[in-house]
Formats: sequence, structure tokens, C-alpha cells
Amino acid sequence: MRLVYSLLFVVAFALLFTSSIKKHSKFYYSIATAIAGITIAYEIYKLITDTKLQGFIGALEKAFMKGNVSIGFLILVMFAGALYPKWKITKKLLSIRAEAAILSCILLIPHCVMYFVGFIMHIDQILSYKPLPILYISYVIIGLIAFIIMIPLFITSFKKVRAKMTNKEWKKLQRWAYPFYFLTYVHIVIALLNDDKVDMMKLGIYTVLFVGYFILKLIKISNSKKKKHIGAM
Ligand code: HEM
Repeated sequence: MRLVYSLLFVVAFALLFTSSIKKHSKFYYSIATAIAGITIAYEIYKLITDTKLQGFIGALEKAFMKGNVSIGFLILVMFAGALYPKWKITKKLLSIRAEAAILSCILLIPHCVMYFVGFIMHIDQILSYKPLPILYISYVIIGLIAFIIMIPLFITSFKKVRAKMTNKEWKKLQRWAYPFYFLTYVHIVIALLNDDKVDMMKLGIYTVLFVGYFILKLIKISNSKKKKHIGAM
């Protein structure tokens, strides 16, 4: 349910505060940075003291640490580019697409940094396991590749950086978003399948969202190709 609540929260937040996010983007980036900082600080504290947060605060921390809230913003960015552009909801999402992408990236930092540090710290143990935990190693490496692809996408989402690029350069770079989305989905699916008890609801939600996105995007691309073809006749 943590995933469902995170997604509902992000959608409601983005739709209710669209103009505020647009106008006061720096304020929201600061809040996201503070949340990311607190999550990292708590995860380090947890490693040292082995204490666990309970109840609502514990669930909230997990929603940020496990990337659930971040994925919520990423889904908005994805669907803004795939839904019918004349719909009111698409226009709203498009108006804060860059801001949602930046918030998603900031909130994902604790997830990537802390899990990767954990992986490196235990690399000797992981490699000496028999049989080798292939699934675990694969999804961490896939996540790392996705994270590396995300960095230039993140930096060029800032208006000041984008303004220094030509439209063609920016669009060419942004095409890397597709392999990023794909690797993210593969990373999540393998991570979920690696659990002792596979959470079918989570797997279903992520699959509907990501596969749904790719289908909508393909329909949109094919429609715009058809329009261009008709225009050229
Ligand atoms: C250095 C890069 C990354 C590492 C080391 C990493 C590590 C992990 C680990 C260890 C899990 C399993 C967590 C668990 O079951 O407790 C996981 C799951 C997940 N990862 Fe990553 N990840 C990385 C990059 C990413 C990226 C780029 C995204 C998204 C854009 C992402 C989104 C997720 C999500 C949504 C889950 C499933 C969480 C859930 O709903 O239970 N990760 N990742």
C-alpha cells in the first residue's frame, strides 16, 4: 500500500499545486533536498545504531528511501509526454514537467547512494555467496547504469542549463530518457522478483504504469508520423 499512497500523494500534490510548483520551484527543490538529506542521515544512523523507525514515520521514510515518491514524480514526467496533448491534465503536467523531473531526481539520490554504498561495503561477502546472487547483482548494476544516464538528464532539466544548449542538442540528449525508463522498469521488476515473497500487487502496478506508458508513447509516435505523411502528400 505504501506504493499506492505515494503515487496518489504525488498525483494529488502535482495537480493541486501546479502553479505554486511552477512559481516557487526553488522552494520545492529545497524541501526535496532537505528530505533527501534527512533520509541519508537517518539511514546512516540506522546502520550505526540498528534502530528502526516505527509506524507512520517509518512508512514515510521507507517511501522516500525505496524510491516510491521519486517514481511517482517520474511517472508524471513520463505520462506528460505520452498523453493526448490537448487534454487539460496533460497541459497541467506539461507545465511542470521539468520541475517534476528535478524533484524525482533529488528524491532518488538517497535510494541510489545508500543501496550502492551498501553493495560496495558488502562486495566481498556478496561475491563469496554460493550460489552467486545473480539477480541481486544484476538489478544493482542495472540501477547504477540507469542512475548514470539520469545525471545529464537531471542537470539539463534546469532552465539555466537548458538555455545554454540549442533545442536540437537538448532534444537529442533527452532521447536518453527512453533507455532510462526501460532500465528503471527492468531494475524494479528484478528487485521485486528477487524478494522471497513476490509482491504481485506492486509488480502489477509498476507493469501497468511502465508498459502502459510505452504503449501510449508508441501510439503517439505512430500518429504523429501518419500526420507528417499526410501533410507531405
Ligand atoms: C545506484 C543505483 C541503484 C541502486 C544501487 C538501487 C538499489 C535498489 C535495491 C537494493 C532495491 C531493492 C530494495 C528492497 O527490496 O528493499 C531497489 C528497488 C527499487 N529501485 Fe533501485 N537502485 C538504484 C537505482 C534506481 C533508479 C535509477 C530507480 C528509479 C528511477 C530505482 C527505483 C527503484 C524502485 C521503485 C524499487 C522498488 C521499491 C519498492 O517498491 O519496493 N532504483 N533498488
